Amino acid sequence: MQTIALNEDADPAAPRKTGEIIVRPSTEADAPAMLAIYTRSVQRGQNGLTFEALHADDIKRRRKNMQKHRLPHLVADLDGTVVGYAYAVPFRKRPAYRYCVKHSIYVHQDHLRAGVGRKLLPALIEACAAEGYRQMIAYVDAANGPSLKLHEACGFRRVACLEGIGFKFGRWYDSVMLQRALGPGSSTPPPGFAASPLGIGDVSIESD
Ligand SMILES: CC(C)(COP(=O)(O)OP(=O)(O)OC[C@H]1O[C@@H](n2cnc3c(N)ncnc32)[C@H](O)[C@@H]1OP(=O)(O)O)[C@@H](O)C(=O)NCCC(=O)NCCS
Repeated sequence: MQTIALNEDADPAAPRKTGEIIVRPSTEADAPAMLAIYTRSVQRGQNGLTFEALHADDIKRRRKNMQKHRLPHLVADLDGTVVGYAYAVPFRKRPAYRYCVKHSIYVHQDHLRAGVGRKLLPALIEACAAEGYRQMIAYVDAANGPSLKLHEACGFRRVACLEGIGFKFGRWYDSVMLQRALGPGSSTPPPGFAASPLGIGDVSIESD
């Protein structure tokens, strides 16, 4: 797979080649642009089964929370304009699942099919692997051909089809679950396992 250099310390204002898409961690100042991309995507029914209306403050709060938990939150930046964003969240809250993330990706309506997703998703994959996560899960609306293709092009494979789990625009929707291993995946135990054989470290376990 193509290696994407994540511009960790990229200064959004730094000079760069015109027309070059760079992927960098989001900043609080990116929130309005991310909100505009999200809102347009939801309004056009492109965003899977999501209807949730958001405000810039919701995005800022979530971003901060993800940062605190070392979960990547990235933007694609074209000549200083945010043209897409992607982020990972825990797959599930219970501690046993702490090496697994799920993610979302959105590209600006005016920049679709221009290679933004192909830059953003591999960068998110690399950033999640670098944080020590081992598996990555995507839920994609079964009717969302572009997203299914993008994910498969980035090494995800279909592991399940969840039938009729969503209802929008007057009909039931299936959701495809795709999965990709990160780094060594499940071929080796996580670091620190030997010191804590249950593998639960000092994380408290939620009761049912
Ligand atoms: C899915 C999405 C992120 C793809 O982003 P993008 O920047 O348009 O994708 P790219 O231009 O990088 O294309 C990457 C690959 O995806 C596939 N793809 C993207 N758009 C496609 C389309 N309209 N039709 C068919 N395949 C498509 C192709 O395989 C493409 O590779 P190729 O150009 O070499 O053939 C974008 O369509 C989007 O934001 N959609 C709305 C939100 C959404 O659905 N998010 C995903 C929720 S799971």
